[in-house]
Amino acid sequence: MGKLTICDHPLIQHKLTFIRDKETKTKDFRELVDEIATMMAYEITRDLPLETVTVSTPVVDATSKVISGRMLGLIPILRAGLGMVEGMLKLIPSAKVGHIGLFRNPETLEPVEYYVNLPSDAPERLLIVIDPMLATGGSANAAIQALKTRGCTQIKLMCLIAAPEGVKAVQEAHPDVDIFLASLDSHLNDHGYIVPGLGDAGDRMFGTK
Ligand code: URA
Repeated sequence: MGKLTICDHPLIQHKLTFIRDKETKTKDFRELVDEIATMMAYEITRDLPLETVTVSTPVVDATSKVISGRMLGLIPILRAGLGMVEGMLKLIPSAKVGHIGLFRNPETLEPVEYYVNLPSDAPERLLIVIDPMLATGGSANAAIQALKTRGCTQIKLMCLIAAPEGVKAVQEAHPDVDIFLASLDSHLNDHGYIVPGLGDAGDRMFGTK
């Protein structure tokens, strides 16, 4: 079973409250999502392996640590995932960015890929799938499957808010994938919205409705 981590740092929880608030306008919403993504990047990279190198300080030659060649890829699910990419790149600027676009087949309600563009060396990278809202888990599962089908094996999932239904669906379908959230909310309502949630993340991020 993949590990579930709730990033409960007070700054993340504080900013999350403001993005939940329906009065928060697009510009502030986008900035807050960006800031939360930066802080969550800190958590999600916590277990990156380190190696020891030598460094000459002005005082002495010393041994010190650097990240040990683990290359990262950020894979936002279009479109709301895009809003978390810049914030993560602030901490991990050398990560490459791939994109996955999905739409829901109106008859089967299953997610269908319409766009997949990955770094050519994606299978060698630790990939972080990014989607702010983990509702039913359908999109996240399809995106993870799209990566696995292309030979990728090291995958984490990062979301702002999840419903328990979505976490369960991902853990069942992809037990090798660790999940990072800022909040695990109560449930999904009859319209597929996370409760209490924050509404439609894409609309709130891009000012559409
Ligand atoms: N997608 C959203 O943007 N919000 C939800 O509450 C559920 C899915």
